Amino acid sequence: MGKVLVTAALPYANGRVHLGHLAGAYLPADTYVRWRRLKGDDVVFICGSDEHGVPITLSALKRKCSPQEVVDEFHKANGAAFAAAGVAFDIWGRTSSPEHHALSQDFFAKLLSKGYIDRREIQQYYSEKSKMFLPDRYVEGTCPHCGNERARGDECENCQKPYEVTDLKNPRSALPGDDSAPVLKATSHWFLRLDTFQPRLERYVAAHGEGQSEAWRNNTLRGAEGWLKLGLRARCITRDTEWGVKIPLSEPGIDGKRLYVWFDAPIGYVTFTQQLFAQRGNPEGWREYWQNPACPIYNFIGKDNIPFHAITWPAMEFGYNDAAADGNKYEIASQVVANEFLNFGADKFSKSRGNLIEIGWFVEKYGAESLRYYLTAVAPEENDSTFTWEDYARRYNGELADVLGNFVHRTLTFTHKYFDAKIPEGGPAGDGEGKLRAEISAALSESAKHLDGLRFKAGLARLMDLARAGNRFFDEKAPWAQRKTDLHACGATIRVCCETTAALALGLRPFLPGSAPKILKSFGLAAEDAFKPGSAGLDPRSITQPGTPLAPPEVPFKKLEEKDLPAAQ
Ligand code: 2FM
Ligand code: ZN
Repeated sequence: MGKVLVTAALPYANGRVHLGHLAGAYLPADTYVRWRRLKGDDVVFICGSDEHGVPITLSALKRKCSPQEVVDEFHKANGAAFAAAGVAFDIWGRTSSPEHHALSQDFFAKLLSKGYIDRREIQQYYSEKSKMFLPDRYVEGTCPHCGNERARGDECENCQKPYEVTDLKNPRSALPGDDSAPVLKATSHWFLRLDTFQPRLERYVAAHGEGQSEAWRNNTLRGAEGWLKLGLRARCITRDTEWGVKIPLSEPGIDGKRLYVWFDAPIGYVTFTQQLFAQRGNPEGWREYWQNPACPIYNFIGKDNIPFHAITWPAMEFGYNDAAADGNKYEIASQVVANEFLNFGADKFSKSRGNLIEIGWFVEKYGAESLRYYLTAVAPEENDSTFTWEDYARRYNGELADVLGNFVHRTLTFTHKYFDAKIPEGGPAGDGEGKLRAEISAALSESAKHLDGLRFKAGLARLMDLARAGNRFFDEKAPWAQRKTDLHACGATIRVCCETTAALALGLRPFLPGSAPKILKSFGLAAEDAFKPGSAGLDPRSITQPGTPLAPPEVPFKKLEEKDLPAAQ
């Protein structure tokens, strides 16, 4: 039991967060945080808005308002959407805060002082049509590695290999309403010498290889190794824009330049932790997480963020730590947990393709619990996965309602009706009861192992298998017939069904934080006790002792009908 720091990628405050975001980073992070707390760890869960960068300035341009108005709107909306989905950050920070700007400038200054940043005159793409330098992501062309004709200047979605924007073949502007061929124009920028960190990063990545105690998932490892194999090159960390963190230097022309959003964004993990502890009245408290080698740091991200978390951000920390006085260093992440993408039908969720489903909208219509269930059940942990309304309805009705909801409901209803709303003592346990009890402990311990190993989908599936076993047991024992011939045997059946119900609710706490405590309440466990720190291993039998009174059962998951789904509306 100890301190744990969990971060979830800071979403850009230029649009509403959607189901792809939730499945990719925020839901697994929240599930993990809840799990570690149940295990008794002292966890801080950090997130907030990424308020700089081109996505914001372009949204402002399109909406004819200021970047500040854009970030104010979406910071608020996205914070509310995550909260509605039960994703409970300890802080929902903002990279526009003065503290964040100050620390980002400190990073720049320290890296510069060590020679890890240098200034270069470069040629950059400029659109004569839009009269502006083109940010990398607004140049499109053919990937020099894989030939993808729609590669962006900042990344190729197809192969994820690194290159400079000028390496793209047949470049064209990707600004809205501008697909002109850009021209190269001289400008000066600052570069982070990633090349100088190559050996250290190789050791860092190798320390998280297969078989290591904090081994990364395959996608993260392969992504990081791919970059290292190609040889790291200096990366430009400033931009020609007036929105972002100012470069802490005074020289002519610097006013029109800012730090690149990907330079300052990960620093937000630190600033927000510092702000959190300042808010808690313990301004030095953050040090127990960032400066404590015994405190593991987990970064939950989508796969497109792998290079920045596995290569660039650790390099920045290495460099910063070289320059910083002893009491001012930051530990490097032990886990970078990347998910693949959740697609919508055949397409990636994407604002430009207009097929994204906003979290806030979804929760308001269908509730948070079914969303959490579904997105964990189809979690894109190893491969991309697909959201379809049919699949959502099928799993909701067929699993959440028919398997879990049905088992819980029939058990609690039967106890109410025939055992005076009290858990029966029942006769001696037979083979069937013994087998189900063994299944309970196997399911709980295997699901716990999956959670420890960041395999959320498998952890949830294991509990659903227990619910299926419970239903089979109920069907086989047929307590409705048993009660007429042998009330003791019927009592034994119901007692172990109550234990199974409690076990399911206990195991489901990190996944379904809204429904699990409701079920536990039936057994008299108060809401605050349901999530008691350190109660991960609570024995279901301890809360289902014979004689325990049961609260009246509620129907946990009402079935969805076709008319409830958008396709039929
Ligand atoms: O991809 C994104 O949405 C970025 N805004 C993530 C930033 S994560 C972190 F480094 F801040
Ligand atoms: Zn490519």
